[in-house]
Amino acid sequence: MKSYHLLLPILIAASIPSYGALSKINPGKAWNDTSGKHINAHGGCVVHHDGEYYWFGEDRTGFTSNGVSCYKSSDLYNWQRVGLVFRTSVANDPTTGKCIFERPKVIYNDLTQKWVMYCHWENGDGYGEARVCVGVCDRIDGDYEFVDTFRPNGHDSRDQTIFKDSDGKAYHFGSTDMNTNMNVALLSEDYLSTETNPVTETKILNGLRYEAPAIIKAGDTYFGVFSGCTGWDPNPGHTATATDILGYWEPGLNFCTDDGAATSYQSQSTFILKVPGHDNSYIYMGDRWNQSDIGAKSEYVWLPLSLRSGAPTVQWYDSWDLTIFDHCDRFRRLADLHDGAVVRLLDKFSDRWVSTTGNGFFIDNDNDDTNLSLRLEATYHPYKWRLVDEESGKYLQSMFGALSFAPKADLPAQIWTLELQEDGTYRLLSGHDGKAMTVAGSSQRAGSQIFMTTPGATTSQSFGIYFDSETYDYEAADMFSAEYREKTLLDVQAQREFDESGVNIVSDDAFSVVLSGRELLVESPCEAGATLHIIDATSGMEMQSVTLNLNPGHNATPLNENIGRGVYVVSVETKGFCSSYKIIVR
Ligand code: GAL
Repeated sequence: MKSYHLLLPILIAASIPSYGALSKINPGKAWNDTSGKHINAHGGCVVHHDGEYYWFGEDRTGFTSNGVSCYKSSDLYNWQRVGLVFRTSVANDPTTGKCIFERPKVIYNDLTQKWVMYCHWENGDGYGEARVCVGVCDRIDGDYEFVDTFRPNGHDSRDQTIFKDSDGKAYHFGSTDMNTNMNVALLSEDYLSTETNPVTETKILNGLRYEAPAIIKAGDTYFGVFSGCTGWDPNPGHTATATDILGYWEPGLNFCTDDGAATSYQSQSTFILKVPGHDNSYIYMGDRWNQSDIGAKSEYVWLPLSLRSGAPTVQWYDSWDLTIFDHCDRFRRLADLHDGAVVRLLDKFSDRWVSTTGNGFFIDNDNDDTNLSLRLEATYHPYKWRLVDEESGKYLQSMFGALSFAPKADLPAQIWTLELQEDGTYRLLSGHDGKAMTVAGSSQRAGSQIFMTTPGATTSQSFGIYFDSETYDYEAADMFSAEYREKTLLDVQAQREFDESGVNIVSDDAFSVVLSGRELLVESPCEAGATLHIIDATSGMEMQSVTLNLNPGHNATPLNENIGRGVYVVSVETKGFCSSYKIIVR
């Protein structure tokens, strides 16, 4: 017994590595596996399966490619090496006797119940072969069996990824035509080749020379992040968006911000992981290549990726952990502007909030102490609002190019036209001089000033209107749905038509018009004959027209049954007045 007790601590000590377990991700810093060795899994991907994460990547000794390594983790910080799961030796070129695997990606095929791996394959002498190599396995963690090497539908293919869609179809994305275009090719049902009956593919982002594709889908919107084409050296990142994976991909902005924007935080994209168990949480994975020793000295840049603004945005953190995702779904885009809603304004380009410390206005990171909370106060005009500081009760006003808060005054400077844009963000135009709220220098940095200038003079004039879902129970926009896109386009059109219709809004105090259930209550100070028109704000169609004999006090008119959910303009015309009001039927 005694000797057993003596042995136990020694056995435990031998099985536990001598350093502490990791609880942070430190982008760009050396990252060791649980045995203390540098993780050798470059150009890789992470797959979540049965509660474990599997990290596949290029295993290299110097430049030499050994194949695809696999590491396993239950927490995304501490990785245990599983081993080489797809060896280059199984796919060597008969002439050169060697080969290289790059950018391995793994997906599961539900029909064949097999794991399928695609790599970029070269014969070990430069980058002229431009083929893919396919491997397959019954288990996620290997060993993967060699299937074939080929050029997808005959196209040269270098940097690549595969993407499995929600309908089970999978696609290969490869830089083609000597890295000039990106080819998207539907894979066969078993994923082991491209679909040839018929060939189903499309070239996207033509002429842009994008590399290093990583694809995700949110709602029914596809997002891609890419690098430019400068070999191992980092360059500015790119994004693109599509609603049909084989259709048009619209190029977007650089997904990186601040100092990192020129070099993608000294990294090149390889994968985006959707974090299981968290809504709207993604991790950008990039490689910080070191040409002097690709295998041992290239590091990994993993950072949180946000889709909150409507496009992928990555900000730098020296060190972070998964608790960052606990609140990443806190602020949601408001579905419909309504009187009394308390909102924050998100600069679309930086994913940062309109903020103040009482002395000037600027954009800032998520910070309850500085981010402005504004209450929307409706006016008689359907698209004009007052913006009230929740904290002080003062009104946001714009005068002579500057913003300030002041007590309520009947001034145009305190009236804001919220001009809806096609992407669902707003331009905020001052009722005083028509100038637009703008981030100075189109900068994305926290602390960049906000001022007022000519609409269209610079790009950074798009602000999303969001609410704090931890405090308010408003309806959130389903930002990435086709329905939202269609509704937004119709609303933009309705606003333009309303502006052009020249409806003469005379006064907002002659009457008050409110909707109570499905009854329109017109409060009148006097007895008068009036006509009431209800106009659909989207189509401009008159939905109801009634002649009323107004009495002092409330006058109730039931809505026609053909008046459904939507925004309507109610105009009340008497001999002396024509006043218009907005109602929202829910
Ligand atoms: C990069 C590519 C890497 C590797 C490298 C070789 O553009 O993204 O995966 O192929 O070129 O120069």
